[in-house]
Amino acid sequence: MEVFSEKRDIIATLDTYKAKQQTIGFVPTMGALHQGHLALVEKATQNNDVVVVSIFVNPTQFNNPDDLKKYPRTLEKDISLLATLSKDLLIYAPTVEDIYEGKTASESFDFDGLEFEMEGKFRQGHFDGVGTVVKRFFDIIKPNNAYFGEKDFQQLQIIKKLVKKQHIPVNVIGCKIHRETNGLAMSSRNTRLKPEFIKEAPFIYKTLKTAKMYFGTKSANWVTSWVEKQFANHQLLKLEYFIIADVDTLKLLKRKSKNKKYRGFIAVYADDVRLIDNIALN
Ligand code: PAF
Repeated sequence: MEVFSEKRDIIATLDTYKAKQQTIGFVPTMGALHQGHLALVEKATQNNDVVVVSIFVNPTQFNNPDDLKKYPRTLEKDISLLATLSKDLLIYAPTVEDIYEGKTASESFDFDGLEFEMEGKFRQGHFDGVGTVVKRFFDIIKPNNAYFGEKDFQQLQIIKKLVKKQHIPVNVIGCKIHRETNGLAMSSRNTRLKPEFIKEAPFIYKTLKTAKMYFGTKSANWVTSWVEKQFANHQLLKLEYFIIADVDTLKLLKRKSKNKKYRGFIAVYADDVRLIDNIALN
């Protein structure tokens, strides 16, 4: 397993694979790896000749400096975990300088409005930061296939839009959410949960599952109010939003249509840890 910190070195190595027409799979991460990330890496190794995993806490996608400061950084542990999967992975763990070359700033993108919904409303500039770093990674690695988890469903749709609008030749593959046995969606942020919040956090998925059940017979408004009430009555978890939206436009559902797919999206504070999750409703 090779670990690269400079783009020129990984580019030179990847050129040897490209010269042999071998396929490159790419799994971008911010580290603090969990089973959800490992599942993406496993899928990538099954379907590509070589797999690159990036580990980079991208400063431009954090609108809250405290969140950036507290984001878990566990590079040595991450490398050991990846080594249990395959000895042939290429790990790219660049410095901020290697990615941003002295100008740590986001480009601004037009994602046809996807960027203004949900996370976009609560995390100003977040998707410009994600778009900037992912575009740079695609440019350096030039993968054939790139893997993203559905926990960040809005991010996944935005990356698909980025690739389409900028004509980047990569297949963007969405992978299902990995959950703890109690239902909590796996997230690097879970490591920051205090014990009393670890105990309560599965309430989020439990509520989403019941919302899905109600969605079969009730209106989106009714289901939304019901979810809001569950959290209003909760002692520890603070709901930031629950929204039922069309999976393609991410716009709030007003009237159900038989031909459309909808998801319920949620963001919750467990003390100072912000957790997101979502569920397919039909
Ligand atoms: O989902 C993440 O971990 C990040 O947003 C990503 C895609 C690695 C970009 O920094």
